[in-house]
Amino acid sequence: MATPSNQPLARGFQLQNYTIAKLLSAGGFSIVYLAHDENDYPVAIKEYLPNSLALRREGIAVVQATSEENLALFRHGLKCFFEEGKTLARIQHPNIVRVINFFRANDTVYMVMEYERGRTLQKEIQLKFGREGVDENLIRHVFFHLLNGLREVHLNKLLHLDIKPANIYIRKDGSPVLLDFGSARQTLTAEHSRLTPMYTPGFAAPEQYRKKEQLGPWTDIYGVGASMYACIAGTAPQAADAREKEDKLEHLSQKYGDQYSPELLDLIHQCLQLDETLRPQSVPQIQKMLLEPASPPARRSSLVTTLKRAWINLTAPRGRA
Ligand SMILES: Nc1ncnc2c1ncn2[C@@H]1O[C@H](COP(=O)(O)OP(=O)(O)O)[C@@H](O)[C@H]1O
Ligand SMILES: [Mg+2]
Repeated sequence: MATPSNQPLARGFQLQNYTIAKLLSAGGFSIVYLAHDENDYPVAIKEYLPNSLALRREGIAVVQATSEENLALFRHGLKCFFEEGKTLARIQHPNIVRVINFFRANDTVYMVMEYERGRTLQKEIQLKFGREGVDENLIRHVFFHLLNGLREVHLNKLLHLDIKPANIYIRKDGSPVLLDFGSARQTLTAEHSRLTPMYTPGFAAPEQYRKKEQLGPWTDIYGVGASMYACIAGTAPQAADAREKEDKLEHLSQKYGDQYSPELLDLIHQCLQLDETLRPQSVPQIQKMLLEPASPPARRSSLVTTLKRAWINLTAPRGRA
């Protein structure tokens, strides 16, 4: 049975000192609004509202769990959303969405963020694809800066676990911001299956389909590789669980070797290794590679590229740093 989607708060609704201006996005776990504080300062407010567990009826602000059993799960998710939000609020970094406030209301919880103006990398890819594709310099710039933010997340002992172009926001000045820490989702265990993440196929690492212990910075690094891949190919790579059965993922140089440097394509390929120990193990490691001077795009099946790739594969680090 399809889960009914929830009613968003209406325009003009007074949520503590914030006035709801409009709906920005409605997902399966939460609703994001544009709102203004008492000084007319714009903010983005994310409301915890998992469709599978709770319902808001039209005209009623308060949220209600749909059954006794769902109430326990809803409360557990709410606690996680709150805890993660508190941690995220401690991270102040120009490339991480800034959390300004956190509060409870309407029997749910709200995260108030700095309102960013721009568009998602997903939108950028859609606009560019079919024409020239996302330019290599732009990819290097966006990901280098995004990784500054991700490094900070990892230093705070957090993992993002949902890195994908739809969660990377590009401000009008071109700087990236990492959004959506899926707060309520990442700490939840298998027993709470209705709240466990529906990882985005193609961007989730293979270990995310398995047990939690194997998760680490390398898991986010798979998402980074998959996001860079999408900038070039226009679509996500083959889903990791399918790849484990029959890996059909081709090296990007097969199709795009004449448009992008072999170094960038090799880096993406390394980040997308199914075996997590074969991926770059830390964010600074990728950043270093992104800064290294690139060779001009090679002709397809050039002998030099083939030999170079073989050399990189042979010398790639095998163990975790
Ligand atoms: N701080 C923000 N500023 C501007 N827009 C935002 C902000 N946070 C979220 N959004 C918008 O809402 C969308 C969904 O937000 P996200 O945090 O990814 O939630 P979801 O869990 O629904 O994916 C984003 O793609 C973006 O368009
Ligand atoms: Mg999102």
